[in-house]
Amino acid sequence: MARQLIAAPPPTPTEWRAAMGYFPTGVTVVTCWQGRTPLGSTINAFCSVSLEPPLLLICLDRANPLCGPLAECGVFGVNILAEDGRDLARRFAVAGDIDRFEGQPFRAVDGGAPQLEAAPIFIDCVVETTTRAGDHFVVIGRGTRIEHTSAAPPLLYQKGRFLRFDPDV
Ligand SMILES: Cc1cc2nc3c(=O)[nH]c(=O)nc-3n(C[C@H](O)[C@H](O)[C@H](O)COP(=O)(O)O)c2cc1C
Repeated sequence: MARQLIAAPPPTPTEWRAAMGYFPTGVTVVTCWQGRTPLGSTINAFCSVSLEPPLLLICLDRANPLCGPLAECGVFGVNILAEDGRDLARRFAVAGDIDRFEGQPFRAVDGGAPQLEAAPIFIDCVVETTTRAGDHFVVIGRGTRIEHTSAAPPLLYQKGRFLRFDPDV
């Protein structure tokens, strides 16, 4: 048997969440279509993967209702939220069968995903690969189009709280 190099017990989910939650992120709303119905979910597990080609990843909880429609749709959009987007972030994370888009202006180009007008940056993607990883799916998307509509500072998230971006630290 291989020598055990790490004697400590593996991290518990609580320890894992605390450690990962220390790391600050931005906040996005990932969107796709289910037929003609727009769907969206607040996602902070998002990062760039590659410059050439332009690839990014999102991690979706396997219980996230977006998983099936996104796989079927084959395209998705990443709406990066501005610092005034916390209500939007909460709205797109709320449990239950509500129309998250109600009262939220959005548009889409032909073949593209729903773009929230409130998001300063929007990235249309096609699904490149999807890998099951534990209780999540890692979805890698290839960026096909970017719209940068404002220079508003981003919304931040850390330890379960929304934060304002402070560039003077
Ligand atoms: C700030 C924030 C970040 C989140 N990040 C993720 C994420 O990266 N991946 C994910 O699957 N769910 C994430 N969620 C949870 C989903 O938004 C939420 O569970 C999802 O929209 C599904 O809702 P439902 O299962 O209650 O219908 C996040 C929620 C919040 C508030």
